[in-house]
Amino acid sequence: MSNRICEILEIEHPIIQGGMTWVSDAPLAAAVSDGGGLGVIGAGAMPAELLRDEIRKAREMTDRPFGVNLIMINLEYDGQIEVVMEEKPPVVTLGAVQSTAIIPELKEKGIKVVPVVAAVAIARRAEQHGADVIVAEGSEAGGHIGETTTMVLTPLISRSVDVPVAAAGGIVDGAGLVAAFALGAEGVQMGTRFVCATECTVHKAVKEKFVKAGDRATVVTARAIGYPVRAIKNKLAGLYGDLERDFLLGRRTAEEIETLGLGKLREAMREGNTRDGSMMAGQGVALVDKVKPAAAIIAELVAEAEALAAELPGRIDLRQ
Ligand SMILES: Cc1cc2nc3c(=O)[nH]c(=O)nc-3n(C[C@H](O)[C@H](O)[C@H](O)COP(=O)(O)O)c2cc1C
Repeated sequence: MSNRICEILEIEHPIIQGGMTWVSDAPLAAAVSDGGGLGVIGAGAMPAELLRDEIRKAREMTDRPFGVNLIMINLEYDGQIEVVMEEKPPVVTLGAVQSTAIIPELKEKGIKVVPVVAAVAIARRAEQHGADVIVAEGSEAGGHIGETTTMVLTPLISRSVDVPVAAAGGIVDGAGLVAAFALGAEGVQMGTRFVCATECTVHKAVKEKFVKAGDRATVVTARAIGYPVRAIKNKLAGLYGDLERDFLLGRRTAEEIETLGLGKLREAMREGNTRDGSMMAGQGVALVDKVKPAAAIIAELVAEAEALAAELPGRIDLRQ
C-alpha cells in the first residue's frame, strides 16, 4: 500500500492515529509509528513544557515520523504552539479548527499540517492555506463531533479539495479502510481502535469497557448547547441528558453544562472512573473486541483490507 498520504507523511501505511487528549501520549504515538502508521501525541490540555517532554520522549522511542495534535480552542494552545515551533515535530494535526491562518506558519518550519474537519467549507479554507492532508471526521467518531456522517462527509470533502483526504469516524477494521477508499479517501484516521492498543496508557478499566461495548454503547451529549461529544453511556452521560433537558426548558445555562464536563475525561481515562468520568469513544467501539499491540492492529487492518479488496470484485454482483 503506497499512496499520496504515505508519500507526504513518510509512512508505510496510510493510517493515522487520531490525537486523543489524556489518551495518546508518547508510548502510543511511537508504537503506532513503529507499526508503519502515523502516531500522534494528543496535546489536549497539556502544559506547554509537558508537551515538550512528550515530543522529546517520542523522538527517543521511535526514529519514524510522528505527529502532535493541538486543539485550537484549548487554553494552553498559545504556549503549545510556541513549543511546537521550537521542537518541530514532523507533523501537526489540528482539532477544533477555528482559523487556518496558522498553517503557513507551521509549514515554514518544515512541519506537515493535517487539519481534522467536519465540514466542506473548512476543508476548502485549510487547503487554500496549504494543508498537506485533510482528515474528514464523520459523526460516528469518538469525542467532539460534527453533524455529518463519515459516509456522506468523506465523498463531499474528497470532491471539494485536491489534497489527499483521510476518512475518520467509525473505522476500526479492514472493511472500514476499504470503504474509506471507495468513498474517495486515500487513508484513514482512527482513534477508538487505538485506545485498545497494548501500548496505550489509559486505565485498564477503560479498555475493558471498550472491549465489552455493543452497538448501542455510545451516546452524543451536549448537542443542545452546540458542542456535541460522543462517549460511552454511563452515569455522567445520564446526568448530561438531565441537564440538557433543563437547558432546553430554560432552567439551566450552557455554562452549567460545560462546567460539568471539566476534568471528566481525565477522571475516566487516567483514574479509571468509568462511572462518573467521560469515556469518549466512537460507534466503532462495538467492533473492538481485543486489546492488541498497535503494530498488530495496523498489520491486521492492512491484511484484511488487501484480502477484501481482492475478493470484492467477485462479491459485487449488481446485474441479474
Ligand atoms: C478518547 C478520545 C479523545 C479524543 N481527543 C481528541 C483530541 O484531543 N483532539 C482531536 O483533534 N480529536 C480527538 N479525538 C478524535 C480522534 O482524534 C479521531 O479523529 C476519532 O477518534 C476518529 O473516530 P473513531 O473514534 O471512530 O476512530 C478523540 C477521540 C477519542 C475517542
